[in-house]
Amino acid sequence: MASLDISSILQGGYQHPVSRSWQGKRGLSKSMFMYPIFITDDPDASTIIQTLPGQRRWGVNKLKDFIGPLVKKGLQSVILFGVPLNCIKDARGSPGDDENGPVIQAIKVLRHNFPELYIACDVCLCEYTDHGHCGLLNADGTIDIGPSVDRIADVAVAYAKAGAHCVAPSDMMDGRIKAIKRKLIDNGFGNKVTLMSYSAKFASSLYGPFRDAAGSAPSFGNRKCYQLPPIAKGLARRAILRDVGEGADIIMVKPALPYLDIIADAAQLAQDHPIACYQVSGEFAMIHAGAAAGVYDLKTMAFESAESMVRAGCTLILSYFTPEFLDWL
Ligand code: PBG
Ligand code: ZN
Repeated sequence: MASLDISSILQGGYQHPVSRSWQGKRGLSKSMFMYPIFITDDPDASTIIQTLPGQRRWGVNKLKDFIGPLVKKGLQSVILFGVPLNCIKDARGSPGDDENGPVIQAIKVLRHNFPELYIACDVCLCEYTDHGHCGLLNADGTIDIGPSVDRIADVAVAYAKAGAHCVAPSDMMDGRIKAIKRKLIDNGFGNKVTLMSYSAKFASSLYGPFRDAAGSAPSFGNRKCYQLPPIAKGLARRAILRDVGEGADIIMVKPALPYLDIIADAAQLAQDHPIACYQVSGEFAMIHAGAAAGVYDLKTMAFESAESMVRAGCTLILSYFTPEFLDWL
């Protein structure tokens, strides 16, 4: 029999479920989960999204009954995405800050009914532009950066005025964090609204179900001139540092599971900021598909994926599994 050195033995330290629970620096908690919600402009909508198991497009009249039970279970934060289906889209994404648009209406309904709930809003133009890109375009189809950033900052301020606690630009336009922060401050929201930057957002195959759900696929071309190449660790690090310097309050990495090294980099580069990651639509759909195919148990895999994100260094997870985790935790 092999004689084992004292220094060889680790298993005694985690053989019990309780001692296993002590092995992480931090465990999962309900407040770590932010729930992405799709708000559409039919006020009575409750429309199943085929590609996102269990998720729907909601109308503002349905929000109270939908969110109420989740708040009772411990839901602390949501992030809203507008899905305008009946509006007239144009080159500058005008419906994005329409007072009567679904996001601004939803902020007010949620603030009124759930005073403790933290309400973040995704800020982007792609759901509202006729070309489906996240910024404004030059005649040749390239991004017109100055006007894009100004327009995105205006939309962010409109959501702040409506009562959002957090604005989260997902467009990846250069300089938008600085522009949004400046405009928030100039409009009196500097000390009232969090700026969460999708700092390291990669051009990923994992956004497909979201683009179906939100109707935000570009009508031509792709997003590779503003979203980061998947191989780009250095660019991601530069984008994180830039956004810290431009005034971001929270740094986000997106998608999450294939980019755990970037989450770890963010936790090191922005060590005094909360670090968020977005377990995106395709990751969620993939976990469901794998479970349906018998590859693993859904709950076990949901935990494993979320725990890997926390281990990598995030403090906040945007996830479509949020309602399940409220039951599981
Ligand atoms: C739009 C936006 C996207 C997501 C969040 N905001 C899609 C994209 O950039 O194409 C993806 C979210 C998800 O897949 O769950 N700017
Ligand atoms: Zn966009």
